[in-house]
Amino acid sequence: MEIKNIVVVGAGTMGNGIAQTAAVSGYNVTMTDVNDEILEKAIATITKSVEKLAQKEVIDPAQKKAALEIETSTDLKVVEDADLVIEAATENPELKLSLFADLDALAPPRAILASNTSSISLTKIGAATERPDKVIGMHFFNPVPLMKLLEVVRGLATSDETTGIIVEVGRTMGKEPVEAMDSPGFISNRILCPMINEAIYAYHEGIGTAEAIDTVMKLGMNHPMGPLTLADLIGLDVVLFVMEVLHRDLGEDKYRPCPLLRKMVDAGYLGRKSGRGFYTYN
Ligand SMILES: NC(=O)c1ccc[n+]([C@@H]2O[C@H](COP(=O)([O-])OP(=O)(O)OC[C@H]3O[C@@H](n4cnc5c(N)ncnc54)[C@H](O)[C@@H]3O)[C@@H](O)[C@H]2O)c1
Repeated sequence: MEIKNIVVVGAGTMGNGIAQTAAVSGYNVTMTDVNDEILEKAIATITKSVEKLAQKEVIDPAQKKAALEIETSTDLKVVEDADLVIEAATENPELKLSLFADLDALAPPRAILASNTSSISLTKIGAATERPDKVIGMHFFNPVPLMKLLEVVRGLATSDETTGIIVEVGRTMGKEPVEAMDSPGFISNRILCPMINEAIYAYHEGIGTAEAIDTVMKLGMNHPMGPLTLADLIGLDVVLFVMEVLHRDLGEDKYRPCPLLRKMVDAGYLGRKSGRGFYTYN
């Protein structure tokens, strides 16, 4: 099946990046969200981003024009013409399950329904629809226009055909698709968040200062950024949330969130976005 029309549901951080990337890759894109104000903000973000990318000649004038032609709507009915829906709405299980039931009712039978979820089971999302074979995870990374990785996550019922189509769409969008089975944290957060959590334990136990821990991982392991700097960038609330999912769903003590992480989130020390985490920011 050829994918031409993509509808991106949710126009926040990830949704507007996905919409932009799909549009510059030649797809007809419509973006939806709950109100016009959010959609206007998303269009402004896309406009600024493609202007920068065009200036640097990363994209050509035709690609910039395509991104500026992204349509918007607050009515989910626009999925009636979709070949592919990519859902990037707020990470809330009840919201996503009811959204997928609605998408299933509105989208044509041929349409693939993808989710950008970081932590919700694709098998569960698939079961909320009558087409679990056509439900799949497209886990993009922030900022979407720049990050190469696309984790393609197969739910229990996701078909080989759906997976093959989505791998091709990912390549067309300039990404490197990597297949993962549906499991808490997929591949990326299953490995990343426990590493960050361990770095927080090391800090908590006084094994090294934040700078020492980050320097060891940067200079000794060639990581571009230390784990505590990265935790501040991701947001400590997000790291805690993922660790809680891993701990609960995998049921092993090794995923126990560090008590200091919990305490910092309780204190409102969320990292860059709150001005304070393991480091302070202006
Ligand atoms: N931020 C990241 O780094 C990152 C990375 C990978 C995946 N994700 C995943 O992407 C998804 C979106 O995350 P985000 O960071 O862009 O969040 P965000 O809060 O920036 O954006 C979410 C958007 O969804 C909208 N929304 C809520 N309910 C909706 C509905 N019923 N219909 C349409 N839109 C609705 C909200 O108004 C908001 O604009 C989540 O599932 C998250 O787990 C996020």
